[in-house]
Amino acid sequence: MKKTIVLLPGDGIGPEVTRAAAAILRESAQEFNHQFEFAEYPLGGAAIDAAGAPLPNETLDACRKADAVFLGAVGGPKWDGLPVGKRPETGLLDLRKGLGLYVNVRPVKLIEPLRGISPLKVDRLGDVDLEIVRELAGGMYFGERGNITEKGVERAWDTESYSTPEIERIATFAYARAENRSRRLCSVDKANVLSSSQLWRRTVTAMSAVYPAVKLEHMYVDNAAMQLTLQPAQFDVMLSGNMFGDILSDAAAALVGSIGLIPSASFGSSAPLFEPIHGSAPSLAGTDSANPIGSILTCGRLPNAGHRRARRARRRLLRLHRDSAGRDAAYV
Ligand code: IPM
Ligand code: MG
Repeated sequence: MKKTIVLLPGDGIGPEVTRAAAAILRESAQEFNHQFEFAEYPLGGAAIDAAGAPLPNETLDACRKADAVFLGAVGGPKWDGLPVGKRPETGLLDLRKGLGLYVNVRPVKLIEPLRGISPLKVDRLGDVDLEIVRELAGGMYFGERGNITEKGVERAWDTESYSTPEIERIATFAYARAENRSRRLCSVDKANVLSSSQLWRRTVTAMSAVYPAVKLEHMYVDNAAMQLTLQPAQFDVMLSGNMFGDILSDAAAALVGSIGLIPSASFGSSAPLFEPIHGSAPSLAGTDSANPIGSILTCGRLPNAGHRRARRARRRLLRLHRDSAGRDAAYV
C-alpha cells in the first residue's frame, strides 16, 4: 500500500506526540511492507508565526490531496489574546470544515492494567468501552456569531443550529457503528430546552425504523454527564452534536485515567483526519513528559478505516433516503 500522510504537528506538545506517532507509522510501514510518504505543514499557532494565518492555503491544499492527515494539537498562551477567528483553534476548525469532516469518532476504552489510575472507584468503573460519535461540522462551532455594544453594554452570541440532513448524515454513521458493536445507541441532546435538540431527537427517532436491530435511547446532556460519572459501563455508542460531544468526550476520557490516552478519527468528503483528543498542554511542552499513547492509538485507526466506514455510512444514508420519499441526497 502506498499512501501520502500529511503531518500537522501544531503547537505545545503537538510536535512531540506527532514525532512518536510518525515513528510508529514508519515502523509499521516497514513491518507490513507499506510505503508511507510524509509531508509536514504548519497549522495553528505555528502557522500564525510562520505564515500569518492559522490555516495557510498550502496546508489545506496539501491535506486535500493527502490520503490521510495526522494532527498533533493546537493552541497556547502566546496566541490567547487573539480574537475568535484568528486564533490557532480557528485553523483546526477551518481544516475540519475545509475537508468536509462531519464525523468524529472518539473511542474511550479502559486499558485494564490502568484501572487503578481512574479517578472512579474500581467497582463504579466497570468495563468502560464506549464510543462517542460527535458531529463535527455544524452546531454552535459554525453557527452565526457576533458581538455588539449598545448603550455601553457589550453583548456577544453564538448560534446552535442543525438541519435535518446534517443530523441524518451523522446519525447514519452512529447507527452503523452501533450495529457493529453492541447494537445500543444513546443519542444525547437538550430537547427539554433547545429547538435544535428537538429536531435532533425527532430525526434520530425517525431513522430508527431503518435500523430495527439497534436499541435507541435518548438522554439529556446534563444527565449524560452525570451517568458517565455514576455508571459509565452502561454506554456503548453515544451520538451527540458538536458542542456536547466536545464536552462529554473530555469527561469520558478522564474515566479511563487520562485524556492523553484517547485517539480520534474524523471522516467526511475528502481525506480523513486523525488526532488525539487532548490539547497542546503548553506547560508540558519540551519536558518530554507528554503521554504519546493517544497519538499512537490514533495511528491504529488510520489504515483504510476511514474509507471503509465512510462508504458504509454512505450506503446506509442512500438507503434511508430511498426509504423516505426521495428527498435530496446530494449532501452525502
Ligand atoms: C477537541 C478540541 C477542539 C474542539 C479545540 C482545540 C478547538 O477541544 O478536538 O476536542 O473544541 O473541537
Ligand atoms: Mg475538546
